[in-house]
Amino acid sequence: MRRVFFFLVLLALSISSPSIGDDGCERCHSGEGAKRLGLKDVYREIDSFRFQHPDVKKKCDECHVERRLKEASVKRLRAVSLDYLRDQVFLVEGLSPDREYLLEVKMVDRSGNRTSIPPSKVIPSKVKVLPYKDSIPPVIRDVEVEDLKQGVFIEATLRWETDEFSSSLVEYGLTPRLGERIGSERVFSLTHRVTIPGLARGKRYYCRITSRDLFGNVSVFEGVVIDTSKKVKGVKAFKGRDRVPPRAGKISLFRVEGSNDLYVRVSADEDVKATLFVTESVKMDEHGFGLLPPRKAQIDVCIRCHPQGVSHPVGIRSRSGSTVIPPDLPTIQGGVMTCITCHYPHGGNRRYFARMEMKRAICITCHIERK
Ligand code: HEC
Ligand code: HEC
Ligand code: HEC
Ligand code: HEC
Ligand code: HEC
Repeated sequence: MRRVFFFLVLLALSISSPSIGDDGCERCHSGEGAKRLGLKDVYREIDSFRFQHPDVKKKCDECHVERRLKEASVKRLRAVSLDYLRDQVFLVEGLSPDREYLLEVKMVDRSGNRTSIPPSKVIPSKVKVLPYKDSIPPVIRDVEVEDLKQGVFIEATLRWETDEFSSSLVEYGLTPRLGERIGSERVFSLTHRVTIPGLARGKRYYCRITSRDLFGNVSVFEGVVIDTSKKVKGVKAFKGRDRVPPRAGKISLFRVEGSNDLYVRVSADEDVKATLFVTESVKMDEHGFGLLPPRKAQIDVCIRCHPQGVSHPVGIRSRSGSTVIPPDLPTIQGGVMTCITCHYPHGGNRRYFARMEMKRAICITCHIERK
């Protein structure tokens, strides 16, 4: 089983869709607000119509504003320490170089005191690149079976050190072919502690330790054996208790040459388990996540409530010489006809909010009589 300590979740954010509300639009699109911004007073115009589109003033959002689409593509990542450490580096992969992200760090010490570092903004491509790069693998030393817990379940803790920030991966198994792996390739530290759960009693486990540095240089240490029939003195359980929350050192960000991946170094004044949260920051302005593009607003939205087929075909342009759309009727890019080519969207003074008399003659507005 491979334990994944670092995962990427694409999920619809739990924040509710931005219901900007009716008066949200009114503020700028009616009365004084509209005048100040040089916009048309949409509300007054709607009030003046003989026929209004039902609920038009309550449904501004529904027809105009981007909703879940963008939220669903918001990226949230989380990385968690493997162990209580003073200093560690998290690798954050898969970000878009030019998007803005929010980074937030939470840390907890062994006594359970917590500290949160408020979110800060980051654009990956603007993060500094380390001015050096090495091709020397890390040195792995002081490898030991630090602890062997023999309760109902047996677990062993391997500990080692490296001379530079490196990842912690342990492969293990009952034969030298190993087979299982545990640890993380995305959290880097100098002291490494990996706990292997679910071991069997009275067995010998072969282990291989791998540490990779920030530049991808890899060291492997073989020959460690965990004998679950033996006693290991073990470290004393942490007894001390304090009420002083950990103080964070500087959170530093960097990249390494040739990659857009982000490294985040988190240090503190005592050993902590840290959790790093990375969230795509979505800019919300007065139009929420943005206005719907014309084709969506003028066709897709309408069809949601008015099944197509009852009306004239849309999404098409004049292809033959037998139709010409007069230039005063609105079309979208490429001369494509939409629902609002013939209907005003908010309401109007004719039945069906028609832009022209909807008698039979309307057809010949565009359909040229064939000779
Ligand atoms: C803070 C002021 C403000 C608020 C609030 C606001 N808008 Fe706007 N809106 C503007 C401005 C300014 C423009 C013109 C510039 C632009 O396109 O961004 C505009 C443009 C628009 C347009 C495009 C107009 C055109 O001629 O194509 C639509 C549609 C629109 N807003 C709808 C809405 C809706 C619906 C709401 C409420 C959900 C809303 N607005 C809320 C300021 C605002
Ligand atoms: C039934 C859907 C629908 C509703 C409800 C609706 N609109 Fe529109 N509105 C449209 C469409 C379609 C257009 C054409 C421009 C476009 O594609 O965005 C439009 C155009 C506009 C424009 C551009 C100026 C104009 O009159 O052409 C503004 C501003 C606007 N709407 C604001 C609002 C506000 C504010 C509300 C709520 C009071 C609202 N709309 C409600 C569909 C709607
Ligand atoms: C939220 C649902 C909804 C959306 C979105 C919507 N409509 Fe409507 N529309 C209605 C309802 C409800 C009526 C009144 C009942 C009816 O006659 O169908 C109506 C009525 C109309 C009428 C007049 C029908 C009549 O018999 O008087 C026209 C024309 C119309 N809508 C066009 C549009 C266009 C064009 C769009 C897209 C810009 C649109 N609607 C978007 C719900 C919607
Ligand atoms: C080429 C012009 C044209 C276009 C484009 C058009 N319509 Fe119409 N629409 C009409 C005419 C004409 C009528 C009146 C039909 C009648 O009198 O039976 C009508 C009637 C309607 C009605 C009211 C009658 C009914 O069947 O409920 C609705 C609602 C409507 N259209 C919605 C839409 C929607 C939604 C679209 C886009 C998918 C659209 N129309 C595109 C011309 C058009
Ligand atoms: C705003 C201009 C306009 C109006 C008004 C209009 N049409 Fe069209 N119509 C078109 C265009 C553009 C096409 C696309 C066909 C082409 O040019 O190849 C089309 C296509 C059609 C088609 C499908 C034919 C095909 O080849 O895909 C039918 C049916 C049709 N129109 C019927 C009508 C009727 C009936 C009326 C009157 C109620 C009407 N149209 C009013 C612009 C219009």
